Amino acid sequence: MTYSSPLMSRRSAMSKIASLAALGAGLFSVPKAAKADQAARPVAPGGMDHAQRIEWLIGQMTLVEKAGQLNLLNDPFRFRPQSVNPTDGLGDPARVSRMIRAGELGALFNGVGAEAGRRIQRIAVEETRLGVPLLFAADIIHGLYTVFPVPLAEAAAFDADLARRTARAAALEGAVSGIHQNYAPMIDVARDQRWGRVVEGAGEDVLLNQILAEARVRGIQGDHGLNHPDALVATPKHFIAYSAAQGGMDYNTTDMSEATLRGTFLPPFQSAIDAGALSVMSAFNDLNGVPTSGNHRMLTEVLRDELDFAGFVVSDYTSEQELIAHGFAEDGRDAARIAMLAGVDMSMVSGLYLQHLPDLVEKGEVPMARLDEAVRRVLTVKAALGLFDDPYRGMDPVREKAVCGSREHYQLAREAGAQSIVLLKNDGDLLPLKPSGQKIALIGPFADDVDNVFGPWTIWGDEKHRISLEAGFRAAMADPQGLTIARGSGIETPLEGGIAAAVQAAERADVVVLAVGEGARMSGEAQSRTDLRLPEPQLALAQAVMATGKPVVVLLRNGRAMELSGAVRDAPAIVVSWFLGSEMGHSVADVLFGARSPSGRLPVSFPHKSGQQPFSYDHKTTGRPADPNKAVEEYTARYRETTNTALYPFGHGLTYGRIAYSTPTLSSAIMPWNEAIEVSVAVTNSGPVDVVETVQLYIRDRVASLTQPGQRLRDFRKVAIPAGETVTVSFTLKRSQLEFIGANGRMTVEPGAFDLWLAPSAQTGAPVRFTLAR
Ligand code: NOJ
Repeated sequence: MTYSSPLMSRRSAMSKIASLAALGAGLFSVPKAAKADQAARPVAPGGMDHAQRIEWLIGQMTLVEKAGQLNLLNDPFRFRPQSVNPTDGLGDPARVSRMIRAGELGALFNGVGAEAGRRIQRIAVEETRLGVPLLFAADIIHGLYTVFPVPLAEAAAFDADLARRTARAAALEGAVSGIHQNYAPMIDVARDQRWGRVVEGAGEDVLLNQILAEARVRGIQGDHGLNHPDALVATPKHFIAYSAAQGGMDYNTTDMSEATLRGTFLPPFQSAIDAGALSVMSAFNDLNGVPTSGNHRMLTEVLRDELDFAGFVVSDYTSEQELIAHGFAEDGRDAARIAMLAGVDMSMVSGLYLQHLPDLVEKGEVPMARLDEAVRRVLTVKAALGLFDDPYRGMDPVREKAVCGSREHYQLAREAGAQSIVLLKNDGDLLPLKPSGQKIALIGPFADDVDNVFGPWTIWGDEKHRISLEAGFRAAMADPQGLTIARGSGIETPLEGGIAAAVQAAERADVVVLAVGEGARMSGEAQSRTDLRLPEPQLALAQAVMATGKPVVVLLRNGRAMELSGAVRDAPAIVVSWFLGSEMGHSVADVLFGARSPSGRLPVSFPHKSGQQPFSYDHKTTGRPADPNKAVEEYTARYRETTNTALYPFGHGLTYGRIAYSTPTLSSAIMPWNEAIEVSVAVTNSGPVDVVETVQLYIRDRVASLTQPGQRLRDFRKVAIPAGETVTVSFTLKRSQLEFIGANGRMTVEPGAFDLWLAPSAQTGAPVRFTLAR
């Protein structure tokens, strides 16, 4: 049972209201609990603080009530019916209501709506023996009603504050809709573009993942303490190394060295925890032979003792039950025991904790102290959220209406969308397009499409507000009658007569915008691919349109780095536009028509060939590095068909300016052990427009006791460079930025020579050298 992600929103405001009404009926068709339950409620002594109250509650709880606090189910009251897989363990409302009343449930997820939330919460608070409030969680991955760019797209903005702001806006929509916990951010460093969930994270680089992990946790949890009604608990996921699935196939095994685990996959979790995240989700994958949801070393020794995590661990969807399929547990009872002892505090969907923990504790197979510890962790987060003071915190139907899909949120979505766009290529300054006097053919399956603007993971996005490319173009053009639309092809299937119509449209136009790429359902959970090219029918369309000889701007829609091949690769202009959310058409038009210069940078390298995966710019050099400028060079580390570089590397992205970098200068070629050095570069914009440039600082440790990557991003800065000006950009470089994970598994730094680049992308420019001296 691995299905878990409702991928596409189908919900309109109307159906939302209808389902809320249905919810009321479902919920209250259940007979009310006898008031006898109330009478049986133990009376708490007065004057207790939260910690005392939690201990008192634990002291009062039966084993079933304790296990109940650790039991998390899908919300059957408010869940979107279309997104439910019949095998996924979704209970019926009557059964779940009974469970709440019996104290057998501590949390529900993926149901939203303030009014209904209040009614469900009331059952827990008023009709159970101990009155412990429920925790409501949801996957608010890139927006709730207002849909922001997918996290990978937003990573392209290289902008922590933007990530914090969109995470805050999304969390606010969640909070007023009765949600307390967000299953985000996903902070799995993604180095294999075949893996479908690249779209949910910040891409291939460790530092960028760390910075955005921190920003997103801060955005989700807010600045006013967790007990502020607008704050949600963040849940960085998936712990750990889930994205390193062999072959890029989702759910697959991972196997890696300690240095890779600690140097690549753990740092974003450290950043998220340091930023205050109070929950972590354990993953599906097997790591070096021990599934992560049954992995004591990772969940307890590393996560708790080393990373200093104080919140609770929630398993991913049935992942503790999957210990059986992994061949790590004999049956459900064994799986519950292993997961519990490993450090999973809350069990998602399987029900195994409720079913087996009471007996496991009675028989002494799980110590009572461990059960109490897990309950204490969950109750502590509930208390931190203020749920013991106001179990209905945030659930305000009036505010819900005002906040969800507000004008400010859509403005932010448009802004974030525009900042996420990456210009890969712009031969002959084909872009920007002219808002008037230019006949434009907008061709491709995404030309007028609205079904694929949100991207994956948008359960509740407002479908009435989805700006297509066509709508965005028309709004930006002074003479919209100059725009022709032709789909040309389906996303994965040909369209009868589509290519002929597209060619005709192209022939009549001055310029073609070819909107091609992946559909929203081609990336996300379980959407691994073996081939990173566009689907065949779209390649054929691209070929035919390019053959007209008209200038073509390829406008890619994608949730991962792709292999650009044939006509798509050869087009004079290429723009990466990902899935930008509710405002997609406007964000794209803002950039394509020049209202703003593109400023996004690739958070993932676009390879020459799919077969290069896994690929990241910071791979090691090997003992036989290949010369990227040689077409063929035998007996070096490369493929027959291509050198092992990227077609468009991490960090790459053009502007409408004309940018040149000077050779970097150093305040000193020697970095004394306890002193920083200043490194600077002059960046000139000789183009006609103001731009924002992302200056990147890469380091290579020339000789180390463990081999190091050929380059690693160690800092970056976004700077405005007005037309015709030169700006000097300086960084302070410290010894700590030269550290790596040593053979002992700890951070270390060794004296010696380092190369340094200040460059517009990885793989670019010549380095300067300095020495770290002890
Ligand atoms: C499975 C996914 O892996 C996880 O990211 C998500 O939070 C849960 N399902 C809950 O929907």
